[in-house]
Order: sequence, then C-alpha cells, then structure tokens
Amino acid sequence: MNQDQLKQAVARAALDYITPRLSSDSIIGVGTGSTANHFIDMLAEIRTEFDGAVASSEATAERLKGHGIPVYELNSAGTLEFYIDGADESNERLELIKGGGAALTREKIVAAVAKTFICIADESKMVGVLGQFPLPVEVIPMARSHVGREIVKLGGDPVYREGVVTDNGNIIIDVHNMDLSRPIQAEERLNQIVGVVTNGLFARRPADLLLLGTANGVQSIPRPGI
Ligand code: 5RP
Repeated sequence: MNQDQLKQAVARAALDYITPRLSSDSIIGVGTGSTANHFIDMLAEIRTEFDGAVASSEATAERLKGHGIPVYELNSAGTLEFYIDGADESNERLELIKGGGAALTREKIVAAVAKTFICIADESKMVGVLGQFPLPVEVIPMARSHVGREIVKLGGDPVYREGVVTDNGNIIIDVHNMDLSRPIQAEERLNQIVGVVTNGLFARRPADLLLLGTANGVQSIPRPGI
C-alpha cells in the first residue's frame, strides 16, 4: 500500500471505531490535513448517525459542509466525544508534532475539549524522538523577530514559513534542530515566549489512541497508562 492508501485505511479504522459509540446528539471534533480529509469523506457515509462536527480549520469546515454535515462553533457545541486528526509525528507515548498544515492552534483547542483524541497516521509518522519534522509555532506577526531570537536561545533554528497566514491571521515559524526529548518541557517553554500563540507539540494533551497504518494492517495503539 502506498502512503495515501495507508491514510485511507486509518481513516476507515477511525470511522469503524467511533460509529458504534455515537448517538444522534453526538458532535465530533474533526482535524485538518490529507488524512483528516479521508476521514471527513467517510464521515459522510454515517451522516444520519450523529448531530454534527466542530472543525479545526476553515478548510475542514468547508469540506464538512460540502458533505452536508452541520458545523458548529466550539463555544456552542458543549462536549465533544471524539476528536479525530492526523499528525506529523508521534512517539510511543502518543505525544505529537502537529501543524504541518498550519492549523495547530485550533487543533489544540479542539483536542483539549474532546474526551477522546484519536490520532490517525501512516507508519512514516512514528518516531523514537520527536523533532525530525520541524516544529510549527504560531506567532503574532509583530512578534516574529522577537520570537525567533528567543527560539535561538532555546537551541532551535527558526525558519519563517513564507506566504502562510493562519486562520487566526498569524504567521508560522518552523523550528528545526531543537531538542524535543522532553516534549512537555519544550512545549511549555515555547509557549512562554511572548508573542507565541501556541506550538505544535501535543505533549500536555497527547492523543488517547493512535490508529497507525502499516503494511501489515492498522495497529490500534492506546496511550500507555490509559
Ligand atoms: C495540520 C496537521 C496535520 O494533522 C498534519 O500536518 C498531518 O497532515 P497529513 O494528514 O496531511 O499527513 O497537523 O495542521
């Protein structure tokens, strides 16, 4: 199977996982990216079995609406039973790097609200130590230079992502070569820099379940300890 087929397989596995656990008033949090897009397209098949969705980006909202799935504002949605999203990297504790698609802040907010965060990813995303993928950081535009200098002090190499404006009107700095061997500490340190909206480390709130697409099928990997 190629990478896209693995993404489709994990999207299908997520659909199979949540379907028997949904009720007619369930609202589902939905992520952003090519793996999440497969999930959205499959979600349309069970459209009548849940109430609607909360989207982690404008692109996801448009795709959901295109399938006739109602999209709610998070503030009016109340509880989210599930949040389903892809990732750029995962370690064995299901701590993630996300934000390759620049949607990290809304993704982190929706993940924070959801009872169960299901990460769907192909096996190329599984790593021993996070950080091969440059860590995205969403930054208020006027703080770009300041945040860059502070990232250098933390040992990272900041690279401004040219031409990208987030759904929140901010910029993205991708951090290369930073030591992320202690992901919670790195997440907290980066978030303390004035001007940082948030960073793409999902360590304080990791995934609860990873559905990993491999050549031998989809592996279901619960977070250790839960
Ligand atoms: C978007 C994300 C995506 O989940 C991440 O980039 C993975 O994308 P894909 O499913 O296309 O590989 O965090 O901000």
